[in-house]
Formats: sequence, structure tokens, C-alpha cells
Amino acid sequence: MLTTLAISGYRSLRDVVVELGRVTVVTGANGTGKSSLYRALRLLADASRGEAVAALAREGGLPSTLWAGPETISGSMRRGEVPVQGTRRTGPVRLQIGFASDSLGYAMDLGLPQRDVPTRFELDPEIKAEHVWSGPAPRPASMLAQRHGPVVTTRTDAGWEGLTHGLPSYSSMLSELADPARAPELLTLREQMRGWRFYDHLRTDSHAPARATAVGTRTPVLAGDGSDLAAAIATISEIGRGDTLAEAVDAAFDGSSLQVEAENGRFTLLLRQPGMLRPLRADELSDGTLRFLLLAAALLSPRPPQLFVLNEPETSLHPDLLGPLAAMVRAASEHTQIVLVTHSAPLASALGDDVTRIELVKELGETRVAGQGMLSRPSWSWPKR
Ligand SMILES: Nc1ncnc2c1ncn2[C@@H]1O[C@H](COP(=O)(O)OP(=O)(O)OP(=O)(O)O)[C@@H](O)[C@H]1O
Ligand SMILES: [Mg+2]
Repeated sequence: MLTTLAISGYRSLRDVVVELGRVTVVTGANGTGKSSLYRALRLLADASRGEAVAALAREGGLPSTLWAGPETISGSMRRGEVPVQGTRRTGPVRLQIGFASDSLGYAMDLGLPQRDVPTRFELDPEIKAEHVWSGPAPRPASMLAQRHGPVVTTRTDAGWEGLTHGLPSYSSMLSELADPARAPELLTLREQMRGWRFYDHLRTDSHAPARATAVGTRTPVLAGDGSDLAAAIATISEIGRGDTLAEAVDAAFDGSSLQVEAENGRFTLLLRQPGMLRPLRADELSDGTLRFLLLAAALLSPRPPQLFVLNEPETSLHPDLLGPLAAMVRAASEHTQIVLVTHSAPLASALGDDVTRIELVKELGETRVAGQGMLSRPSWSWPKR
């Protein structure tokens, strides 16, 4: 289970460290940094596939993703005594994202290329450092593997041993060097992070893949675009938590039930509703109904991931559906850790009391965690480059 998430220099997240629980609910007003926190987690998963630099490029590259405010915000700036202004930088430009878990932790540190090396990719982010450790926070004594520029070393019984001197600046040591014999901890971590699942704005428009009839194969994990919804629902009913799914659909849509029709190997999802002479096909369902079914298929997956991250799942759901959605999140949390970013106060409260709540607020353009002081902030110090 992930215990701490730390982000520094990423969009409005200048310096944020939060504790994660079994279920963590992230709330906050518009523009407070909720989606940025979601994206930061996704960047970590991208790093494990060697795709972090490309993902950052799609977001506009480092110049637009780096924190746009001053390196530090002084007390007098916070009190409004002096205007917010840039001060002489004391350190290099850095974007850092890391997490600790109850086994291994990982942090990556990205920056801009050094100007003395001529390149046409002068805005291309570079991975400057990466660290893997065991325990609750990065500490020199608990490091297991580290990367400084192109050089990667791992700790062995005999001390630090070099793995490579030539790792490209755009590759992560997780994706390139996860060698079961020489770097088993990198492999373990990589496989864990690759298994994290992210669902953000599942498509429900009239051309959404989830509305189409599709070839049905056993589908324990719903595709990110929902194109295998009918197969995923059929799989849950056959080998998974079919009862929980049926209860959720019954509670959400007043006595309705799901049915998957198979014809020549192609599956069509049907919703049978009381009072209707025929069930409705997926392409006839409303956006909110379809989104609820997509979330159900994702959350009740018979092959639960270590971590589920959901961004604003409540979009286009009627308030009446938030209770059943919260019930599914709780059911899913028996098998998986969940981070849920939401705008919806009713959803956040329907999740009950035993969840970790993080409320983000914005102060001088910077995301802060409401109610977090020096003492309640989880301990975290970024490893050196
Ligand atoms: N490079 C940057 N430096 C500082 N702030 C930035 C940077 N890029 C974007 N921002 C700001 O970060 C804020 C956080 O955006 P984000 O999308 O995470 O908000 P949100 O909480 O998800 O909002 P919403 O509820 O509207 O979805 C925005 O106000 C945006 O203006
Ligand atoms: Mg958002």
C-alpha cells in the first residue's frame, strides 16, 4: 500500500506531501490542483513504462508543467507585505514526484538539459536522478538503487555496484534496468507501478466505444476507453463479484438488472428496467447510466490492481447515484487501494468516516493541503541529484 505521495515543482504543486490511506478522497475548489495530483500519480506509472518524458511532452513540456511561481514564497509575500516576485534561484529547476509504500519507495527528479551540451531538444525534460529505497521516506541509509544522470548503481552485500553508465536521459531505470538477477527491487517496483489503474473521464458520448457491440473475450480488466464493457460485465458476473454488481445496478436504477447478449461471439450489453417491454442496449442508455456501468466494471474488476486512481468519477451522475457509487468504491477497497479525486461533497461524505481526506486549497497560486502544518506533514526529504 502507498503511504505517502510527494510532489514538488509540478504545476501548482510547488511542494506537497500527503499521506495516503486505504481509501483517499481528494477534494477542493476548481483550480486547486486536484487533477494535477492525479496526473502526478499517472506520471509515476508512465515512468515505470519508460514513458514519463513523452507524457510530459504531451502536457506541453517542462516549461508549462513546471511550477510557474517563485522558487520559495517568503513569509512577507504570504502576508502580502511584499509582492510575489522571483528571487535569485538557489537550486536547479526541478520537477520531483515520489511515493513511499509499506515496502519500496521511488522518486524521480526531472530537469532541463544543461546548456553547455548543444542539442535541438533544448526544452526536452531529462531524468536527472531516480531513487529506490525501502521504508517510509527516502533516507540515504535505506537506498537500494539510485541513478545520477546516466549512471545507475544498486546496493549489494559488497556495497554499491554499477549497473550501467549509459542510461539515456529520457529513459527511466525502472523500464530499462529491471533485471531479475542484478536489480530485483527495480523489477518488483516496476511491475507494481505498471499495474496501477487510472480512470479519467470515461467516454460516454454517442460514439463512445462502450456503446458498441464488440467481440467478447474474458475481460478481467476494463480497457481505458471502455470498449470492452459488455465483456467486462460478463466476466464479473461469471467469475467475479456478480452479486455486488447486481446489487449496485439494482440500487442505482430502481430494480434494473444487466444482461449480456452474445451473438456469434459478439457481446451487447443490455439494461432491463422495470416497466419497459424490452431491455435497452448500451447505445440507447443515457450518459450518466453508461458512466455508472463503466465505473462498476472498472471498480469490481476480478483482477484488482494494487492501486486505483479515479479522477472526478461523478461527472454527469445524478446525486442519487452517488450513494451506490460510494458503495462500489468501498467494496473495491477490500481488495485494492483507492485514490479518488472528486468535486462532489455528497460522494466524499457517502464514503463514510474511515477514509483519508485531503482537501486542497490555493494560496498565492500554490496548492496547499488544508489544515496541514509543519507537524502534521508526513516527513519527506528529497534525495540529492
Ligand atoms: N506551471 C504552472 N505553475 C503554476 N500553476 C499552474 C501551472 N500550470 C497550471 N497551473 C494551475 O494549477 C491549477 C491546478 O489545476 P488542476 O487542473 O489540477 O485543478 P483542479 O483542482 O483539478 O480543478 P478543477 O476542479 O477545475 O478540475 C490551475 O489553477 C492552473 O491554473
Ligand atoms: Mg480537475
